Amino acid sequence: MQKIGHRGAKGYSIENTLESFQKAIELNVDAIELDVHVCKSGELIVFHDFTLERLTNGEGEVAKFTLEQLKKLKISGKHKIPTLIEILELIDKRCNINIELKGHNTAKPVSKIIEDYVQNKNWKYSNFIISSFQYEELSHFSQLNSNIPLAVLTQASVEQAIEWAIEFKATHIHPHFSLLTTDNCNFAKEKGLKINTWTVNDTIDIEHVKKFSIDGIISDFPDRI
Ligand code: G3P
Ligand code: CA
Repeated sequence: MQKIGHRGAKGYSIENTLESFQKAIELNVDAIELDVHVCKSGELIVFHDFTLERLTNGEGEVAKFTLEQLKKLKISGKHKIPTLIEILELIDKRCNINIELKGHNTAKPVSKIIEDYVQNKNWKYSNFIISSFQYEELSHFSQLNSNIPLAVLTQASVEQAIEWAIEFKATHIHPHFSLLTTDNCNFAKEKGLKINTWTVNDTIDIEHVKKFSIDGIISDFPDRI
């Protein structure tokens, strides 16, 4: 069972910050999960929301600001919004990385960065899983790079995630844990798909989902898995 730290170790630190990913490493995760958007100057930044209000002292849409502008903001008064490259350098192959294509037009720049890390920095394609809820990003990514494991995220239907996974030659589905049944997990396995489920935080829920034939659990508290 893979232990995957959600937005780093969100239960112990501020989500999607360097500190949160460092904490996840200290908790011996197999992988971290993070969210990416493209900002106005073209860099990939690690941030969950489409807007700045909930997490920072800024306001407006993340995609409308340059990296220089975003770096002036504070998350919870002290953290800076990290870039994907900063997180890759911090992780330095100590665990795998599940990159969720959250923002629009993220498939191409993510594929480019991974290709660079595989060709020039000794990372392997298998160090990554790319996931998304978005049909367009999944479709684009599957056309760009079939070497990198791909996961279809869903909070609505395991059956539809399996259909999309077959269409995009994805290796994984990532369903919300409330959707899991013995039958749909077995059906995914028959189709050759791996299953990582999210976001499972309570120990009772963690024990419950372990009864299904799943491969990994994404949690804010990865040490509970
Ligand atoms: O990748 C699993 C999970 O992170 C998807 O939902 O909203 O937390 O990005 P969200
Ligand atoms: Ca996510």
